[in-house]
Amino acid sequence: MTTARDASWSLDALTPGDRRRVVDALRYVGRDLHHRSFSVSSDRRELLWQEMDACLQLAERLSVTVDSGAAVAPLSDSTFRPCTVITGASSGIGAALARSFAQHSEVLVLVARRQDRLDELAAELAQSAAARVVAVALDLNQPQAVDQLLGRLAANGLWVETLVNNAGFGLRGSFEASSWMQLESMLRLMVEVPTELTRLVLPEMQRRQQGTILNIASLAGLIPGLPGSTLYSAVKAYLIRLSQSLAAENSGSGIRVMALCPGYVHTEFHAVLGVEQRMQRLPGVFWMSVDQLVRWTERALQGRQVVVVPGRLNRLIAALAHYLPLPWANTLSAAFSRRFRSRP
Ligand SMILES: NC(=O)c1ccc[n+]([C@@H]2O[C@H](COP(=O)([O-])OP(=O)(O)OC[C@H]3O[C@@H](n4cnc5c(N)ncnc54)[C@H](OP(=O)(O)O)[C@@H]3O)[C@@H](O)[C@H]2O)c1
Repeated sequence: MTTARDASWSLDALTPGDRRRVVDALRYVGRDLHHRSFSVSSDRRELLWQEMDACLQLAERLSVTVDSGAAVAPLSDSTFRPCTVITGASSGIGAALARSFAQHSEVLVLVARRQDRLDELAAELAQSAAARVVAVALDLNQPQAVDQLLGRLAANGLWVETLVNNAGFGLRGSFEASSWMQLESMLRLMVEVPTELTRLVLPEMQRRQQGTILNIASLAGLIPGLPGSTLYSAVKAYLIRLSQSLAAENSGSGIRVMALCPGYVHTEFHAVLGVEQRMQRLPGVFWMSVDQLVRWTERALQGRQVVVVPGRLNRLIAALAHYLPLPWANTLSAAFSRRFRSRP
């Protein structure tokens, strides 16, 4: 089978008109491959992307010589519209970030399980913001959920310019107090899904040299040895490290990668966790509202810092965790956890 990579044969012999038609055809095939890549297995997707890249590169090379050097826009620029995808947008931090991104995004894609909450937010944003809002009710823990989401975006002619990996939940009690199903669900939602989504949307950002990946991590990911948050803090530490490496790999590429590490924020998080009563004992100075957090996030996104800890007290805690000798930091965090957090 002849592939796009083999197709540089006798192009020199083509007239400018024929070259234009070949460029258009290559762009069409590239778009089609991009579209189809979201409904196939990941092995096959890699192959389709290689073909898509080959089409794109060939179209760009040819387009330079078409019409006396008039440059042709990159393959999908004119066809796909940029969108902001926020996972876990039905409440708390995700919903607040949706209100913020709705002010400057063309299309906002809200993802979570609760359809009614997403619809409510979409209706509110339709009144208050210019962005078109697409609500996608999806359990991201289901197999194929990521493919379904990206397939839906491709079918709507959207490419992901901003990805906010936010969906998450906490677990209560010691590590062995959680069932494997709960632990697996946390690993899937808070490690695999953000990693997979990032892997799938990054190439298009790189191609266009623009994009933002905002990972909602946690202060817990910066503090060593948090009993009662065993997997949670490990998962958040993973997200922080992933963000740092991605930021380094994509430095100078026009892609902004940031790990946001909030401390305690008033959302449904602690009610879902079942520790709301207990958390009320925590002094108010530790808490932040979602609006405060969003203001921090908006400012931080303008800068270059990769790991962002919002709030003075949280920054002090992060600094202590970093500079104190490890046994001291462990003792402090264990005492704090015993007092305020998580018993099964
Ligand atoms: N609140 C805090 O103190 C705090 C501090 C640091 C970091 N964080 C992080 O901030 C993020 C957001 O939490 P939050 O505080 O805003 O809590 P929240 O109000 O409970 O929001 C969690 C969001 O995740 C969604 N979600 C949960 N499971 C899902 C699934 N299987 N598929 C799709 N969506 C799912 C929920 O929507 P549905 O239930 O509708 O699916 C909801 O929109 C989390 O990653 C959390 O770890 C929170």
